[in-house]
Amino acid sequence: MKKNQFILQMKEYAEENHVPIMTDDGLHYLLQYIKKHHVKKILEIGTAIGYSAICMCGVSDDIEVTTIERDEPRYLEAVLNVEQAELEDRIHLIFQDALEVELDDTFDLIFIDAAKAQNIKFFERFEKNLRQGGTFITDNMDFHGMVQVDEDKIESRNVRQLVHKVKNYIAFLQENKNYDTQFLSIGDGLAVSVKK
Ligand SMILES: C[S@@+](CC[C@H](N)C(=O)[O-])C[C@H]1O[C@@H](n2cnc3c(N)ncnc32)[C@H](O)[C@@H]1O
Repeated sequence: MKKNQFILQMKEYAEENHVPIMTDDGLHYLLQYIKKHHVKKILEIGTAIGYSAICMCGVSDDIEVTTIERDEPRYLEAVLNVEQAELEDRIHLIFQDALEVELDDTFDLIFIDAAKAQNIKFFERFEKNLRQGGTFITDNMDFHGMVQVDEDKIESRNVRQLVHKVKNYIAFLQENKNYDTQFLSIGDGLAVSVKK
């Protein structure tokens, strides 16, 4: 099967099975960023079925991705997809809760795309693994437009709490003097934080 056809097939699978994957716009930005900044070593928090990891490897043949997923069915689907894409030597899949993973490697880019409420914890846990001048990119900073909505007007308690956590993460990044962060209205909202 051709590469593009396989990527489309993964996208269709994700839609049919309600697996959240990156939007086309967000992914396009991420891939351009990787290309422009000659990113080679990537850590991804939140593999799902391996869609974004496989797409990131498609930018250039010397890119390696380490990616973490805690949901077993999704992890197993990602294993199959990575095999089918023949990327077993460049995509390292870890089946574990990211908040329990200890890594010694250093990465050029860390892509956070997992449980939104845990973003600060992911950031703090893997900060030591990001090289100087490297970048954290975090997805879902708009949380489907909910971040702009007045919190009192959100009926669901769960959603209200999640919005609150996303706002806390925005403040955390804005106040973090060790990083230059830009917030972009691309896809579901991206934060691009460059380590000084
Ligand atoms: C939005 S999906 C990832 C989509 C993927 N990056 C893509 O675009 O193809 C988020 C994934 O993160 C996983 N996840 C959430 N919290 C996690 C954690 N603490 N550790 C590992 N995986 C986590 C979820 O199970 C889910 O599959």
